Amino acid sequence: MHIFEKIGPLEDYLDSCREDNRSITLVPTMGGLHEGHLQLIEKAKECSDMVVVSVFVNPTQFAENEDFKAYPKTLSEDKRLLEAIKVEAMFAPLDNEVYPDGNSQDYDVGEMGKILCGISRPIHFNGVAQVVSRLFDIVKPDYAVFGEKDYQQLLIIKSLVERQGIKTTIVSVPTLRESDGTAMSTRNNYLSPEDRANAPLFYQQLVAIKAAIQNGTDISSATGQALETLSGVFDVEYIEVLNANNLTQITTSSNEIIIISAVRLGETRLIDNIVFRRSDV
Ligand code: PAF
Repeated sequence: MHIFEKIGPLEDYLDSCREDNRSITLVPTMGGLHEGHLQLIEKAKECSDMVVVSVFVNPTQFAENEDFKAYPKTLSEDKRLLEAIKVEAMFAPLDNEVYPDGNSQDYDVGEMGKILCGISRPIHFNGVAQVVSRLFDIVKPDYAVFGEKDYQQLLIIKSLVERQGIKTTIVSVPTLRESDGTAMSTRNNYLSPEDRANAPLFYQQLVAIKAAIQNGTDISSATGQALETLSGVFDVEYIEVLNANNLTQITTSSNEIIIISAVRLGETRLIDNIVFRRSDV
């Protein structure tokens, strides 16, 4: 595997790939790689001739009071994993490589960035947009792969790409779950054994909302019931049933529906969602 810490040599390598007519897929990550990331990489391999995985814990998407310092930094383990699955190139830059002129650029993340996670994390999506456009600028990928667990992030990136006319196709991969249903996440590592044992209730309640809606229960009763059950264990930040295409309120014509939620379990913030079609209802 080619490992790049500097932009220049990475760009040279990618230019030589393009000269050989090889298409490029980028998988942006913050490291702490788990099985869920490996699925993104498998998808990336299906998309193109070569795959670049970036590993960069982006400081601009964390607020002062968030877990930037505590975020797992497991670079040598990440390298070992990527080598084992034969990733062609890893980009593991330093902060000053990514943001040589500081990180002042603001992005309009639109209305979608101000709701749900954007309420408790007001600078988060701006930071995500900043690093993703920077990575796209450097790698100029034909495809980029993101997980559907971070669904709001996925839609914001899709709209950023559209508005800025970036020629990268955004590909998404369904959430990978542990055998107990819990969505795989680097942040699951923060959970105490007791909290980890309670975590599956989160997804179970999203499934319960979907089942209740499918059985004809109205949305507010379905979410109200789940909220009551979840509140015994979690601090529920939000739990909403929305149009999955744009995260607006659903109307009679909304076909794709998302049940989306963020909760806190101890100090750990967890997010999850289920997307389904109204025709499944
Ligand atoms: O989803 C993530 O891991 C991050 O938000 C991303 C897209 C790599 C940007 O730092």
